[in-house]
Amino acid sequence: DIRSVVRGVGAYLPARTLTNADLAQIVDTSDEWIVQRTGIRERHIAADHELTSDLALHAARAALADAGMEPGDIDLIVLATSTPDNTFPATAVSVQAGLGVTQGAAFDLQAVCSGFVFAVATADSFLRSGAFKRALVIGAETFSRILDWSDRTTCVLFGDGAGALVLEGVATQDAGGRGVLTTHLRSDGRHKNKLYVDGGVSSTKTVGFLRMEGREVFRHAVGMITDVIVDAFEATGESAQTIDWFVPHQANRRIIDASAVKLGIAPEKVVVTVDRHGNTSAASIPLALAAAHADGRIKTGDLVLLEAMGGGFTWGSALIRW
Ligand code: ACO
Repeated sequence: DIRSVVRGVGAYLPARTLTNADLAQIVDTSDEWIVQRTGIRERHIAADHELTSDLALHAARAALADAGMEPGDIDLIVLATSTPDNTFPATAVSVQAGLGVTQGAAFDLQAVCSGFVFAVATADSFLRSGAFKRALVIGAETFSRILDWSDRTTCVLFGDGAGALVLEGVATQDAGGRGVLTTHLRSDGRHKNKLYVDGGVSSTKTVGFLRMEGREVFRHAVGMITDVIVDAFEATGESAQTIDWFVPHQANRRIIDASAVKLGIAPEKVVVTVDRHGNTSAASIPLALAAAHADGRIKTGDLVLLEAMGGGFTWGSALIRW
């Protein structure tokens, strides 16, 4: 038996920040409205020349450095994004080339805000099967490029960034209890029109903008999130009491707090970065993991619970002994 053990984590944020006060210059909004409804205070925005692959490459290098590994150690790259550089090839192969990796496989995966949890589950399956040995699991987004900057109901919510995790397949008897313990993925396409981009290659031949029924998303979010977390607890015998850290997708402070309350997770275990990053879709969880690892909160042996919910709808959880 093989376990997928975390070896390193890294992140990258574009240099430019956009505050709520900056946004109030662009659309009819206020710092007070945005903070009260979402908890967001600022977000990072990629420079014109910075592509999703550039953000991803920075995060990948940081994760490799944290793991003490070289690019040549990696034989699988799974990159979750809804904002790829091009329609094809996959953004993952640009990252692969940027790292100088020529072995193994690299591909993109698209599950919008749940993308990183889906990517962890995918890489974990490949590693446990023995097909690959060491994986870079990346979430990278430039949502600023698909925002309608005249729509105050959406443009205030999102930001750009990237995060990456290095996972290594290790024989279970050598893993010391560490590794990805369980993953649970769900989707329900009946909700596909509640959060979508109104353009695309096959439908309109334009890129389009993000459109969202915010209240509808909110209404479904907490129930879906808590369902897959209960699945994770039931599969492992762990609980709100035994986890050390809850690292949710960072969409909205109210969704995060309501989920933690419903599950009985203590507030001090909840990792929150949405105030500084906004919603970075597939990048939000690895960005939050990197922040909590860098400041000394997440340590080897800690039990870390991930969850996400997003367009599709898609939703999922992962429980990791770090
Ligand atoms: N600034 C000021 N006023 C605004 C803004 C803004 N940026 N946006 C909307 N308003 C106004 C609306 O026009 C409305 O005015 P009206 O009452 O005169 O019509 C009023 O504020 C209330 O609008 P609601 O949409 O009802 O506000 P709500 O309390 O639902 O908050 C929000 C909106 C923050 C989008 C909320 O619904 C939400 O968080 N939904 C979840 C969406 C989400 O997180 N999506 C992320 C992608 S999915 C995911 O990652 C899970």
